[in-house]
Amino acid sequence: MSQALPNTLLTDNGSTPMLADARIDGDTIVVSWTDGMVSAFHQIWLRDHCPSGLHPSTRERLWDWSAYDLEINATGVAVTDDILTVSWPDGHVSTFDADYLRRRRYDDAARTERRPQLDLWSAEDIVRRTPNVDHAAVMADDNALLDLLIKVRDTGFAIVRNMPNCDRPDTDWPCETVARRIAFTRETNFGRRFDVISKPDPNNQAYTHDALLAHTDLANREMPPGVQFLHCLEFAAEGGESLLVDGFHAAEELRADDPGAWTVLTTMPVAFRFHDSDWDVRWSGPVIALDVDGGYHEIRYNPGIAAPIDVPFALVKPLYRALTAYAARLKDPRNVLAFKLRPGDMMVFNNRRVLHGRGAFDPSTGPRHLQGCYVDLDEWHSRIRVLQGEHRLD
Ligand SMILES: [Fe+2]
Repeated sequence: MSQALPNTLLTDNGSTPMLADARIDGDTIVVSWTDGMVSAFHQIWLRDHCPSGLHPSTRERLWDWSAYDLEINATGVAVTDDILTVSWPDGHVSTFDADYLRRRRYDDAARTERRPQLDLWSAEDIVRRTPNVDHAAVMADDNALLDLLIKVRDTGFAIVRNMPNCDRPDTDWPCETVARRIAFTRETNFGRRFDVISKPDPNNQAYTHDALLAHTDLANREMPPGVQFLHCLEFAAEGGESLLVDGFHAAEELRADDPGAWTVLTTMPVAFRFHDSDWDVRWSGPVIALDVDGGYHEIRYNPGIAAPIDVPFALVKPLYRALTAYAARLKDPRNVLAFKLRPGDMMVFNNRRVLHGRGAFDPSTGPRHLQGCYVDLDEWHSRIRVLQGEHRLD
């Protein structure tokens, strides 16, 4: 599957719209397009984005914002051969390509269009359309890799099928070789990779055979790892089914049913802490974090490593009430996608959106062995942009 550039570049018939006209209107320059669209740009924006203000090699901005004239007034504008030309009082002339302006327009409609379109899901919805990709294709074909990257970006997870065995555990594990198709991996206090296997004297619940409630990993860090890879090598034990829950979908349910609880969880920091003989790593953040536009940014939820609750006295009960309400939605069977990994399957999921867990298993009935690693979201989104060619655009 290949991805085209953002569709804001194209008209309904697939052609690039042309610049039709431009005029000065107060502190803006209003551009009209051959498809009827009209876009306004502030004069200060155009002066700031003049291509001549970029270093020819690094494409970094050369100008200093402190020196700008906010009331700058263009002396003339013209449209010729799909180029907008703006003349400035100091004699400088800026030129802008039509496709640059079309991509960078920032009216409300354009900004809404550019926002990520997330595919929120309940278990009963996603079970019929579980995102799958094939290991060999991902390793050999950039389009298959892009397909995996976009599935995880939009749906929050995908399953890579037909993974090879880990025949050389002293070198990169299979989960790491897939991760390195995307970027470098994220190292944590659990190492650059980890075995999920029942072992004596564990320092993490994952290393027991106990059930694990749905959680996000490393909620105790300022920046929890972005995407987690969990590759199933062996699975003959009874029990131990995997669980995935879309934390954004559960948050949307909470907002609809219990807006007071939703407001508490989106605004009140909750502390998480991991500590053992070598580490004591703590951070506080909202369980449901929003971005500046009010969209969902991340879920930070791991009751097992919640630090002692330390919020203003009057807010203790409201916080518990909100946590209880969200926890109930995370356990609602309609939201919990439960399935048994097979050897050769690898779950790949956005750890800052999709919560994961497992049922208890009986190690006396057979082995259960997973291998894991992480890649952060910066690298994930960067790889998508590079594969789509966006990195070549100013
Ligand atoms: Fe985990």
